[in-house]
Amino acid sequence: MASFSYLMSVLVLCVIIGYANAQLELNFYAKSCPKAEKIIKDFVEQQVPKAPNTAAAILRMHFHDCFVRGCDGSVLLNFTSTNGNQTEKLANPNLTVRGFSFIDAVKRLVEAECPEVVSCADIVALVARDAVVATGGPFWNVPTGRRDGTISNVSEANADIPAPTSNFTRLQQSFAKKGLDLNDLVLLSGAHTIGVSRCSSFTERLYNFTGVLGTQDPSLDSEYADNLKSRKCRSINDNTTIVEMDPGSFKTFDLSYFKLLLKRRGLFQSDAALTTRTSTKSFIEQLVDGPLKEFFDEFGKSMEKMGRVEVKTGSAGEIRKHCAFVNN
Ligand SMILES: *[C@@H]1O[C@H](CO)[C@@H](O)[C@H](O)[C@H]1NC(C)=O
Ligand SMILES: *[C@@H]1O[C@H](CO)[C@@H](O)[C@H](O)[C@H]1NC(C)=O
Ligand SMILES: *[C@@H]1O[C@H](CO)[C@@H](O)[C@H](O)[C@H]1NC(C)=O
Ligand SMILES: *[C@@H]1O[C@H](CO)[C@@H](O)[C@H](O)[C@H]1NC(C)=O
Ligand SMILES: *[C@@H]1O[C@H](CO)[C@@H](O)[C@H](O)[C@H]1NC(C)=O
Ligand SMILES: *[C@@H]1O[C@H](CO)[C@@H](O)[C@H](O)[C@H]1NC(C)=O
Ligand SMILES: *[C@@H]1O[C@H](CO)[C@@H](O)[C@H](O)[C@H]1NC(C)=O
Repeated sequence: MASFSYLMSVLVLCVIIGYANAQLELNFYAKSCPKAEKIIKDFVEQQVPKAPNTAAAILRMHFHDCFVRGCDGSVLLNFTSTNGNQTEKLANPNLTVRGFSFIDAVKRLVEAECPEVVSCADIVALVARDAVVATGGPFWNVPTGRRDGTISNVSEANADIPAPTSNFTRLQQSFAKKGLDLNDLVLLSGAHTIGVSRCSSFTERLYNFTGVLGTQDPSLDSEYADNLKSRKCRSINDNTTIVEMDPGSFKTFDLSYFKLLLKRRGLFQSDAALTTRTSTKSFIEQLVDGPLKEFFDEFGKSMEKMGRVEVKTGSAGEIRKHCAFVNN
């Protein structure tokens, strides 16, 4: 009898823990919306060739989403005049998250198939993966079952998303706060292989590094800096010209971004910071010397890990009807 009630209490405990720890799982919508993942993948495969920058844009959006309140679609919420709060998408680094209408279009297709079943947070995670694959980049598993958050706060985004001017310590801290380590930092920065940036995100390095006009960041290769100044970012205030982060190969998901880092040609201070420590620098060297597959595999693992940051599952949060608005 005693052992029976012991067994029962263990069972009850397991049920409670199981409920509290509802996990993401592969193909979470297999029963509730079996076509969802296929609809998303087909749309992405059809659209991305027409707009190749989508992969970089949604990858960045997914990162911004996960770094603020977890991967809960909070980055998609719009300013609502009734409550006067500013949402994450208005955050400093630097009003450059793009791709909102792409996500809205995917959400409309998925809602037409199964209304109010698939979360916006999962849509962002799936589109990020499928868009990278559609541009020839790595595949990774995207377990699903995320639920959407209801809060989006610009101050939190400014606090949690590392700026392009971040030094090593700041990068390490902001990743550690999300349970991500230095390898994740290097690998996820590898997404810059398909990245683009406005000049204004790094012109201080070219024109005003010490706070005195005319000073340049000595950690940036001077030949490359001169080239940027004469051909791309002709003034410190240029906030319109777009520069490729991995020039010559920015359409290809490959190792050339890491090769550029070793030549001191990373565009941001946060890129340059990655080679300022022996541990991260030797990891970069290892990646550069290894087969592309190693980077792809490791990048995929870090993406899956990032996709689990502080997710809402089970009965937490909600399934938004429209990705830009919380349900009534
Ligand atoms: C939400 O805000 C974005 C700009 O951040 C805008 O492009 C989009 O049209 C807005 N969506 C809706 C449904 O109002
Ligand atoms: C706006 O701020 C109020 C007060 O802090 C809060 O109750 C509300 O949830 C916020 N709305 C959003 C969308 O974050
Ligand atoms: C947004 O976050 C900041 C920093 O955590 C906090 O001080 C502020 O009250 C929040 N704003 C709202 C409207 O909740
Ligand atoms: C790194 O940046 C932080 C601010 O983001 C600053 O407080 C710190 O002093 C910097 N560390 C170094 C070594 O420059
Ligand atoms: C981002 O915007 C803020 C506020 O407008 C500005 O102070 C900062 O220099 C900008 N950062 C970059 C990298 O453009
Ligand atoms: C140069 O940097 C200093 C110190 O950060 C700043 O006060 C000044 O406005 C900058 N000059 C320009 C032209 O951006
Ligand atoms: C670019 O700079 C100009 C002048 O400083 C400013 O009016 C404009 O809002 C800026 N644009 C962006 C996209 O930051």
